[in-house]
Amino acid sequence: MAAPIIAPSILSADFARLGEEVRAIDAAGADWIHIDVMDGHFVPNLTIGAMVVKALRPHSAKPFDVHLMISPVDPMLDAFAEAGADIITVHPEAGPHLHRTLQRIRGLGKKAGVSLNPATPAKMLDYVLDEIDLVLVMSVNPGFGGQKFIASQLRKIEALAKRIAKEGLDVTLEVDGGVDATLARQCVDAGATALVAGTAAFRGGADHYAANIAALKGSA
Ligand code: DX5
Ligand code: ZN
Repeated sequence: MAAPIIAPSILSADFARLGEEVRAIDAAGADWIHIDVMDGHFVPNLTIGAMVVKALRPHSAKPFDVHLMISPVDPMLDAFAEAGADIITVHPEAGPHLHRTLQRIRGLGKKAGVSLNPATPAKMLDYVLDEIDLVLVMSVNPGFGGQKFIASQLRKIEALAKRIAKEGLDVTLEVDGGVDATLARQCVDAGATALVAGTAAFRGGADHYAANIAALKGSA
């Protein structure tokens, strides 16, 4: 089985030294940089906006995997595209016209992702699967790092992986929330191809980042 893409979430980085942290996690082997954008409205936490994404852009050439937990999301898409996002992921609940939102993201030349909250069923994607490049299965309720992985989401990952394979789609299946090295293995076994990790990637400080990422990849 191929090693999963590892996308460390900078939500667990030291916000006072974000540029340095992005460089360190990149050098440690991160495949993508996962950026959690929260608005204090769609989710009960407030993080960063497009200006910070733009400021971080020169610090890494790796894809910026931007997870938008904001509503309404449509008015902000252009700003994140211009700031240097490579993948823009939205929640279906964050706007009235998901299909239009996804077309807009692709129209901006970016990869389009849809994120499913733990209670949001996979069938939400029935009529948009060919409009997306990535599905982000939330294995915690979005808003905070350091929460416990919700085991029921493994079934959702499995069902989505089967469907993606059956339909021969080129869609990355990413999991986000509470993923450590043990759960990483379970997610990959269930069919995940990319893993977000905040706590488990940034644990222990910069000297540990490479080992943390290797453990998540299953190669430690
Ligand atoms: C939660 C975020 C996640 C989170 C992951 O709303 O989308 O990316 O920060 O952090 P851990 O790995 O600590 O759960
Ligand atoms: Zn995230």
